[in-house]
Amino acid sequence: MIISESHAGRVVLDDVRKTYAASSGSVDAVAGVSLEVLPGEFVAIVGASGCGKSTVLRMLAGFESVTAGTASVGGRPVTRPGPDRGVVFQDYGLFPWLTVAENVRFGLRQRGVTRGIARQRAEEYIALVGLERFADRFPGQLSGGMQQRVAIARVLANQPSVLLMDEPFGALDALTRTQLQRELHRIVGETGTTVLFVTHSIEEAVYLADRVVVMTGGASHGVPGHISRIVPVDLGEHRDVNASDFNALEREIAALVHAPAGTRER
Ligand SMILES: Nc1ncnc2c1ncn2[C@@H]1O[C@H](COP(=O)(O)OP(=O)(O)O)[C@@H](O)[C@H]1O
Ligand SMILES: [Mg+2]
Repeated sequence: MIISESHAGRVVLDDVRKTYAASSGSVDAVAGVSLEVLPGEFVAIVGASGCGKSTVLRMLAGFESVTAGTASVGGRPVTRPGPDRGVVFQDYGLFPWLTVAENVRFGLRQRGVTRGIARQRAEEYIALVGLERFADRFPGQLSGGMQQRVAIARVLANQPSVLLMDEPFGALDALTRTQLQRELHRIVGETGTTVLFVTHSIEEAVYLADRVVVMTGGASHGVPGHISRIVPVDLGEHRDVNASDFNALEREIAALVHAPAGTRER
């Protein structure tokens, strides 16, 4: 099958279900999840704990199988992890015994990129996240915000078409978080990477996303997790978290997140 260039970075979930086996029988974590994300689009996923946000991301990453339906990236059904998808979690997952530059080069070398090109690419992406001066430091010598920048640089150095981020800024203090949000916005604008971004923070979702996917349900509600609404964010390029239209949208999404489970809106 020939995949056209225009498919790169396109993410499609088609009636996806994930059933986990449990001691008390099997549990449908999510069901009926359908979503299309366009190349270069930034989509945030919000919803209460347990509604299946991480499950959706893990299936796209190829860490979990899809029980029914299809998850595809770049026009290909996902069957395993791959370099077209970069994954960033809350914990940075850096190797503490490698320097910043070595951490960023590691995955490239694993994939057979030559030493010279890996070195050059690492430099480029470390600069992109503003850490040129820290390339020879070890992760333990850096703040949490800087470590997360390294994690982002490491993933982007592989030049994925899709970035899958699961509460990546959840462990950071408010100021650092705001800073990293701005940088992420700039960086994905420059690289054109498609982003699926799970967050607990509705403010963060509205600040960053082109569209916000609201998930509800989950095992504790007796309904599988599902998408209850997709909200476009028509607030332009430069967003002010204190503006009244911004706050109005935040309130609208908060109401959807907290709506009684089982109501499936379209
Ligand atoms: N590996 C697993 N085995 C069994 N159940 C799981 C597993 N991972 C997640 N779940 C269950 O699936 C549901 C969705 O979990 P998750 O995707 O982590 O939700 P969220 O990220 O929205 O908090 C929860 O009920 C959770 O307990
Ligand atoms: Mg989660």
